[in-house]
Amino acid sequence: MGLERAASIDDLRLRAKRRVPRFAFDLVDGGAENERNMRRNTEAFEQMELTPRYMVDVSDIDTRATVFGQMFDAPFGMAPIGMLNAFWPGADLTLARLCKAQNIPYTASSASSTSLEQLADAADGNGWFQLYVSSDATVTEGLIARAEAAGYTTLMVTADVPAAGKRDRDIRNQLVVPFRFTPDVILQCMAKPRWALTSLKHGTPNVANYSDLLQRAPSYADVQKTLISPGFTWEDLERLRERWKGRLVVKGILHSKDAVACAEMGCDGIVVSNHGGRQVAFGPPTIEVLPAIAKAVAGRMTIILDSGIRRGVDVLRAKALGADFALAGRAFAYGVGAGSDAGAQRAFEILQLELVRALGQLGIPSFEAVGPSQLSAVKGTIS
Ligand SMILES: Cc1cc2nc3c(=O)[nH]c(=O)nc-3n(C[C@H](O)[C@H](O)[C@H](O)COP(=O)(O)O)c2cc1C
Repeated sequence: MGLERAASIDDLRLRAKRRVPRFAFDLVDGGAENERNMRRNTEAFEQMELTPRYMVDVSDIDTRATVFGQMFDAPFGMAPIGMLNAFWPGADLTLARLCKAQNIPYTASSASSTSLEQLADAADGNGWFQLYVSSDATVTEGLIARAEAAGYTTLMVTADVPAAGKRDRDIRNQLVVPFRFTPDVILQCMAKPRWALTSLKHGTPNVANYSDLLQRAPSYADVQKTLISPGFTWEDLERLRERWKGRLVVKGILHSKDAVACAEMGCDGIVVSNHGGRQVAFGPPTIEVLPAIAKAVAGRMTIILDSGIRRGVDVLRAKALGADFALAGRAFAYGVGAGSDAGAQRAFEILQLELVRALGQLGIPSFEAVGPSQLSAVKGTIS
């Protein structure tokens, strides 16, 4: 199937599955434990109806959205994804460039397989930097100072990683970083020759922002222990707020009380996120906790939502329930896996086309005007 015949993000996912070795596909495609939370993310979006309205002039649809003082051409951007070059070699730079070209935000992950400086250059003014607070304060400070020097003005600190998620597929695949080329892994790679050849050219991916740490830590296990901190608390967030002069966004908020605490601490925004269902299986979908969060903090800070965005209309669903903007992780990743640069471009086009068509059917010429009045039958816990 050619990329032009990929009609949906799901089509891109299937195409990526055919091109990427299983261990690398599962690394991106999988979620925590039995993946219940990951499934519920997309199901909850699908269940939420919006009522079409007609006989409104929608010949000129405006999808622009302004976040943190910057106007973007679409109301969604790229969520931070670590180690994405394992999924498709060169994926980080492909997506940073795509975001610049389409004028949408690109979030560089602390755990990216390309340095934050290279990604800042490629995103060229459209980059945000996601921070994992390390258990070693000097490592955290090093990342912040580098992000500042590279010109990032928005820092997104991820709160939902007191520990790495337990992902059953990765355990079954015996996934370790850097990859161990066991006979099984070698067979998987040989079955996907294009991936294997491109990977040979790019080299084995690693956590590029931690090269100093990789050199001085006694073992890779020590590196992993250092990357995230189980001891990250509200007091640390307060210190971070004092330290970082730019926009500060907290990612991984699911409870309205936590959202209020972020607002009171002077954060500029939150990402209502369950990490794409990668941290726990038992949690709620983000679209279901959004109304309570929006009620508690709307107007006090920017609300961004991610986890489960697979259709352009999902961004409208989030907006109708109080989000200002959305991020997509896997949707873009599947695009790159399906066809490198052209595949990433196709993922953007699909989401944007679906968004424009949905706005037309809803009789709303401007994304900014989407609100609760478009909500249809009240389903499940959405009210
Ligand atoms: C393979 C993978 C790696 C991720 N790495 C990070 C990361 O380094 N930092 C982070 O804050 N979130 C990370 N996330 C979570 C994403 O930023 C985002 O919350 C999630 O992908 C949204 O769900 P979606 O994939 O359904 O769009 C990762 C997600 C995936 C799938």
